[in-house]
Amino acid sequence: MTTLGAIGATPRLGSTIKKSFGKTPDGQPVDLYVLTNISGAEVSITNYGGAVVSLKVPDRSGKLADVVLGYETADGYVNDKSYFGALVGRYGNRIAHAQFVLDGKTYTLAKNNGENSLHGGIKGFNKAVWAAKVLSTKDGQSLELSYLSKDGEEGFPGNLKVKVIYTLTDANALQIEYSAATDKKTVVNLTNHSYFNLAGQSSGNILGHQLMIQADKFTPVDASLIPTGELRDVAGTPFDFRKSTAIGARIDQEDEQLKLGGGYDHNFVLRRAAGVGESLAARVVEPTTGRVLEVWTTEPGVQFYTGNFLDGKTAGKGGMTYPRRAAFCLETQHYPDSPNQPKFPSVVLNPGERYHTITTYKFSVEK
Ligand code: GLA
Repeated sequence: MTTLGAIGATPRLGSTIKKSFGKTPDGQPVDLYVLTNISGAEVSITNYGGAVVSLKVPDRSGKLADVVLGYETADGYVNDKSYFGALVGRYGNRIAHAQFVLDGKTYTLAKNNGENSLHGGIKGFNKAVWAAKVLSTKDGQSLELSYLSKDGEEGFPGNLKVKVIYTLTDANALQIEYSAATDKKTVVNLTNHSYFNLAGQSSGNILGHQLMIQADKFTPVDASLIPTGELRDVAGTPFDFRKSTAIGARIDQEDEQLKLGGGYDHNFVLRRAAGVGESLAARVVEPTTGRVLEVWTTEPGVQFYTGNFLDGKTAGKGGMTYPRRAAFCLETQHYPDSPNQPKFPSVVLNPGERYHTITTYKFSVEK
């Protein structure tokens, strides 16, 4: 075990510990970085897929619990099909028919979700080994992860240099800063796929969590979960979370969109002014523990997913298995299938431009 981020030099800011986390199938060693802040909150991140492995935050009585789903060792992440905690790229969510056109040229991607490409393809960024560097910044302990996605990887054009900085602040926030640059015109949509349960990672379903999403519209989908292109008003639908509402209040309601998603698995169009930095996207309260999660982002959308595909079969941390709806995801993003939807905000990145987005998960408590 090595202590990095010198406690002596910056006592206010906690520390970072590096541990071995196992090996990839081809024998590459991977690590786990445990970052703590001055109030004892803790996040563990592996450089395999850049996944958030655990995240411990206090409840209203100060008791810490791990509020994200995950696995005990690298093997779990190697075999994972749910994207637990992972960094998702090069393109988060779906691209229809696994293809898109840039400057008249058609790019063909691997189909890993029926006819579509999902979350970057067969070997997305969640299956890559990232280079890791511990930083002590003014805001807290940080972990910088870098990855070079080569020209043609999974069918995407351009060598894409990606950098993600996770920071655990002393105010119990986990900030994720994403940046990227390319040498050929490409498409980019990066996110983190943490599965949250604010009562604790193995404490049943999340239907009682109260959710608010700052969205007047969402993007309805077809049978393969590709957006139809419409931006539909949430008013009068089970997608209206403008006022805080229990996640489970309407999830089993007779509704075409809920049926297609097997619950919520939809992109919400965030109410935010362009160019203002991060704004509040969503707020979740878990009434029994008082834990509160706020999601702040510079992104125009958020995928709200209720763990509809979890089936209780995968072995997670502490010998737990995770049943359907044991967690929710709030994946900040550009809208799914944007490369094929000219009316959606653009995901094109040109050489010389810098892709740069920030998402922060802020934890607090309510009495
Ligand atoms: C996203 C997708 C879902 C599913 C999960 C992971 O939320 O929209 O359909 O793929 O990731 O299982």
